[in-house]
Amino acid sequence: MGIIRIKDKKFSTFITSDKIKSQTARVAQEINRDFAGSTPVFVAILNGSFMFAADLLREISLPCEIHFVKLASYTGTKSTGSVHEMIGLHADLRGRDVIIIEDIVDSGLTMQFVTKMLAERSPRSVSICTLLLKPGNLQVNLDIKYKCFDIPNDFIVGCGLDYDGFGRNLKDIYTVTN
Ligand code: IMP
Ligand code: MG
Repeated sequence: MGIIRIKDKKFSTFITSDKIKSQTARVAQEINRDFAGSTPVFVAILNGSFMFAADLLREISLPCEIHFVKLASYTGTKSTGSVHEMIGLHADLRGRDVIIIEDIVDSGLTMQFVTKMLAERSPRSVSICTLLLKPGNLQVNLDIKYKCFDIPNDFIVGCGLDYDGFGRNLKDIYTVTN
């Protein structure tokens, strides 16, 4: 608890690891219930989701596969920050229930891209599971079936999320402060 400094910014405790743990367990129970009888494929988006994915999947009691993918964006030609490539997913998704694990949905453009890419592989379903959502920044129509927290538009770090590469290891979530 308290104030921390990362590079030029100060952050204060916003969501404690206890709260993250209880909300993660709640969401995992929803998934266990909704996919009972299925063998889902979890696709976690690196780097940000590594900690949430580990916490969530420990609470999943379904037989399942787990894959990790990285997203790449073009540099130089476009400044939109939008992603154009999904690296590392070699699984056959035909007829499978796919559950994307993400750290945060901000504009929603990343999740829109990922769901589109996965849908092209003929899965039975594609669902989004995110630790955090900034509803105030959402620019696209997304069906976010599983979510731990809605948060304001302020910049945050911790629990997998970084500020310029730092802060991913923090077990609490911190919000930028003055
Ligand atoms: P979107 O495409 O705008 O939804 O962006 C989602 C990505 O932006 C996330 O996967 C994060 O990597 C990053 N992001 C968005 N908001 C934050 C934040 O508050 N802190 C750290 N990273 C963030
Ligand atoms: Mg991310």
